[in-house]
Amino acid sequence: MTQQKATNIHWHEGEVSRDERWKALGQKGCVLWFTGLSGSGKSTIACALESALVNLGHHCYRLDGDNIRFGLNKNLGFSAEDRAENIRRIGEVAKLFADAGIITLTSFISPYLRDRQTAREACEKGGMKFFEVYVETPLEVAEARDPKGLYKKARAGEIKGFTGIDDPYEAPEKAELVLNTAEMSLDDEVIALVDFLSTQGIIKKR
Ligand code: ADX
Repeated sequence: MTQQKATNIHWHEGEVSRDERWKALGQKGCVLWFTGLSGSGKSTIACALESALVNLGHHCYRLDGDNIRFGLNKNLGFSAEDRAENIRRIGEVAKLFADAGIITLTSFISPYLRDRQTAREACEKGGMKFFEVYVETPLEVAEARDPKGLYKKARAGEIKGFTGIDDPYEAPEKAELVLNTAEMSLDDEVIALVDFLSTQGIIKKR
């Protein structure tokens, strides 16, 4: 649990309700939390889904693990503690984006159940829908893809604490959606996600 450090602070309510904000945008905000190994396909799927949603006229935004580490989280590495803080911050940022009315796609390995639960609680306590999407790609498949050459480096001992090699990945126990990328095409994954969002009432049925 991150401690509240500041004292003498007071929540300041705005004049516009979330519902009014969402109505003005013509959609509901939510968080689609992609989790899976490096190279599992999280970012590829999130990019394709973002493109499909924007083409359908929806407001959507992607928060990507590697990208966020160039800015907001540039002071964090890959220790368990830093990964926890990475995910805590993204849970809070995703909550804000969803509150603003954006369909928010996060693609972070987020290897620990407890950290993902913290992100879920932050969103749900704030009244936002949080859908965990497990991008289930076997390690052998992710390692064979090795798009950034990082598994090769990890196996050679050039990267320490690499998820799936010498650092753990705790698979979700009750993800709202599981995508098995070794068996599904990217197009089918996007169709499954768009259908899921419409079944959940986030976007209108086509
Ligand atoms: S997380 O574990 O804290 O959720 P995050 O998704 O932000 O990780 O970043 C993972 C990305 O950082 C990987 O896709 C990979 O490109 C890179 N990376 C560099 N070092 C590591 C490492 N030790 N473990 C996992 N990913 C790493």
